[in-house]
Amino acid sequence: MPKMRIDEMEKRSYNVFLKAGLPEPDAKIITQVLLTTEMRGISTHGFIRIKKYVECLLKEGIKKDGRYELTYDSPVWAAMDGMGGAGIVLSHKAMSLAIEKAKKNGVGIVNVKNSHHFGAAGYYSGMCAEAGMIGISMSNGDVLVAATGSREKTIGNNPFSYAAPAGKFGMINFDIATSMVSDMKIIALQNEGKQMPDNWIIDKNGNKTQNPADYLEGGVLLPFGGYKGYGLAMMVEVFAAILSGSGITNEVHAWNTDKSASGNVGHFFMAIDIAKHMPLEIFKERIEKMVDTIKSSKKVSGTDDILYPGELEYTKFKKCRESGMLEISEDCMDAILQAEELLH
Ligand SMILES: NC(=O)c1ccc[n+]([C@@H]2O[C@H](COP(=O)([O-])OP(=O)(O)OC[C@H]3O[C@@H](n4cnc5c(N)ncnc54)[C@H](O)[C@@H]3O)[C@@H](O)[C@H]2O)c1
Repeated sequence: MPKMRIDEMEKRSYNVFLKAGLPEPDAKIITQVLLTTEMRGISTHGFIRIKKYVECLLKEGIKKDGRYELTYDSPVWAAMDGMGGAGIVLSHKAMSLAIEKAKKNGVGIVNVKNSHHFGAAGYYSGMCAEAGMIGISMSNGDVLVAATGSREKTIGNNPFSYAAPAGKFGMINFDIATSMVSDMKIIALQNEGKQMPDNWIIDKNGNKTQNPADYLEGGVLLPFGGYKGYGLAMMVEVFAAILSGSGITNEVHAWNTDKSASGNVGHFFMAIDIAKHMPLEIFKERIEKMVDTIKSSKKVSGTDDILYPGELEYTKFKKCRESGMLEISEDCMDAILQAEELLH
C-alpha cells in the first residue's frame, strides 16, 4: 500500500478544509480527528471520506460557519443545536464540553441535534480515556438496517463506543456499528468478485443471500446478533436522536446521495471522571488485572493472543506514530486528490 508522511497528510487535509470554507480552528479539529482515525487503522472512516465532506461543504449540506447554540445548559448536562454544521467538529466540541463538566462535577453529558456524519465514534470516547475518564459516544445515521422481522431499511447502523484508561494497555476502546458489517465491506467484496456470509444482508425480497451484488439492488443490512443488535441500534436512537430532538430514523438525510441536504443527525456524549470516586491509579490497576486475567485464559487453537477492545487500533496507532508514516489505500488517495481538485 502507498505510504505518506503523517505531517504531509495533516497539512494537505488542513488546507483542503480551509479552502472548503471551514474556520481555521475547525479545519484543525476535523484534520486531527480524521488523522487519528486513520492512524488507528479505521480507514473506512478516515481520509477516504474527505471528498464527500468537501462536496457537502460546497453544496451547503454542511454549514461552514462553525456556529452552534447551547439550548440547555446545567452543571452536568448540555444540549447543543449544531445548526447544520460539520458533525466531526460539533462532536469534538460537545465531548470537550462534557469533559469540562465532568472535571467539575463528576459527570458531563452533551446531546447534539442538527448535526452531520461524525466519523468514528471511538474518537470521542477516546478523548475521555486520554483525560483519565470513561467516555461514551453514539450517533444515529440514515436508515440502512432492517429491524428484526422487517425487510426494509428501517434504522441506521448507529455506531456506539465506550472507552476507559487502561494503564499499560493504553485504553480500552470498543467502537462498533450496530449492523453486521458496513456497506463498504460488501461493496469491496463485490469488486473482488467474492461471496459473503449469508447473515450480512437480506435481498430486496427479504431472503438470505451470499451475493454482494444483491446489496445495491435493494438489499438491506442486518443488525449484528439479530434482535440484540437491533435493540442496541434503537438504544442509540433513543439517546442520540429522541433525547436530542434530532431527526429520528428516516428523518436523517442520506448524505451519500444528496450532498445539499442537511444531515439532521443526533449524537450523545458522556464523560465520567473516575478520580471523583476512585483514585485513577487504582482504576487503571483494576483494568490491567482484568485484561491480564482475560489474556491469560486458555486459547482456542490458531489464536496467538486474546485481544482487548481497542488493542488492534492502539497497536496500529503507536506503530504509525513511531514511523511517522501512514498507509493510504489507492481509493483513499483518489478521494484526497479529488477533494483537492474540487477546490482548484
Ligand atoms: N458515523 C457513522 O454514522 C458510523 C456508522 C457506522 C460505523 N461507524 C464507524 O465505523 C467504524 C467501524 O465499525 P465496525 O462495526 O465495522 O467495526 P468492527 O466490526 O471492525 O469492530 C471494531 C471494534 O471491535 C474491536 N475488536 C476487533 N477485534 C476484536 C477482538 N478479537 N477482540 C476484542 N475486540 C475486538 C476493535 O478493537 C474495535 O473496537 C467505527 O469506528 C464506527 O464508529 C460510523
